[in-house]
Amino acid sequence: SRTHRIAVVPGDGIGKETVPEGLRVLDAAARRFGFDLQLDHYDWSCETYAQTGRMMPEDGLDQLAKSDSIFLGAVGWPGVPDHISLWGLLIPIRRSFDQYISLRPCKLMPGTTSPLANRGPKDIDFYVVRENTEGEYSSSGGRMFPGTPREFVTQDSVFTRHGVDRVMKYAFELAQTRPRKKVTSATKSNGITFTMPYWDERFAEMAKNYPGITTDQFHIDILCAHFVQHPDWFDVVVGSNLFGDILSDLGPAVAGSIGIAPSANINPEKVYPSMFEPVHGSAPDIAGKFICNPIGQIWSGAMMLEHLGEKDAADAILRAIETHLAEGGPRTRDLGGQAGTEDVGRALAEAVANGA
Ligand code: NAD
Ligand code: IPM
Ligand code: MN
Repeated sequence: SRTHRIAVVPGDGIGKETVPEGLRVLDAAARRFGFDLQLDHYDWSCETYAQTGRMMPEDGLDQLAKSDSIFLGAVGWPGVPDHISLWGLLIPIRRSFDQYISLRPCKLMPGTTSPLANRGPKDIDFYVVRENTEGEYSSSGGRMFPGTPREFVTQDSVFTRHGVDRVMKYAFELAQTRPRKKVTSATKSNGITFTMPYWDERFAEMAKNYPGITTDQFHIDILCAHFVQHPDWFDVVVGSNLFGDILSDLGPAVAGSIGIAPSANINPEKVYPSMFEPVHGSAPDIAGKFICNPIGQIWSGAMMLEHLGEKDAADAILRAIETHLAEGGPRTRDLGGQAGTEDVGRALAEAVANGA
């Protein structure tokens, strides 16, 4: 039968609680749909850093390169500066494996409520397509005259034609598969005078190739306001690395909880493994109690199966999540319930096994 090789990296904090539930549901899907998952477990985390001075071994990326996909929990823990932990593990994976698309669905699920008054599932259903390898997240810059009154820091933003065009193309292609066929661009070309006008220029250029797609664009500040006041305007929203990051916490928040939000870090050409992880982080404030919501992780597992060509299994997980939420299945506190992380994982695994 078909075998998919998965590198499993739970990471820090609640990643260690959500990943086992993700695997539980993936296992149920594999059994039901007749494929095998060959799992390689990596315990790389901030604890590894404390012991070895590195977030992952020197050949860590080579080890991951052998897998078909990477299933990650969260990275970052108090005591290790975030820029050390994230740039020692998560960001190098995204960049080395050219996972230039970060695909982040924002969907108000039936049976859950938005913090926005009078909004239902038909009002909030869009994707954030985030550029994931360049932009504001650059390693170009530095600190000059450290510790002196002349001290200053710079950080360059890098927008390549190749990088901008490919994320925009992905957004337009995605919109073509959706009923509303609309792409919104997140910009800030009123305040940022080189990169953002360039972004707008490339967006207008790309739009010419897709006459059937409606487009609009907003500066990031008012776009955040529109996410709250008019979430129904959006279908596919394309943004730079930083703007996409911000919008992909705001979107799930207006859709109810970042605890259910999944993400896919995709190398569409499949030259390298892609990585699937929830949008949320390690949640130090609730870690260790097994009260976090595992649905973001489980849904990320569904996105992984879809990427691996297991569309039926991916759909079954999605249906299980939808039915579970719509029919009042056990839910964690972020969704107003009292259930534990494992209760939700078990219920969803059972639903997948029993033919959701
Ligand atoms: P966070 O997403 O970890 O937590 C923000 C808030 O949301 C917290 O109150 C938390 O309890 C809650 N929350 C998050 N996930 C939840 C879930 N599944 N169920 C219920 N509640 C949930 O963001 P943060 O506090 O800014 O970051 C904590 C650490 O995680 C930092 O080190 C940060 O850099 C890192 N981080 C990592 C990733 C990643 O690995 N992709 C993403 C975001 C943040
Ligand atoms: C995310 C996270 C990361 C990002 C951080 C932890 C570096 O916020 O995956 O959204 O900014 O990409
Ligand atoms: Mn983020």
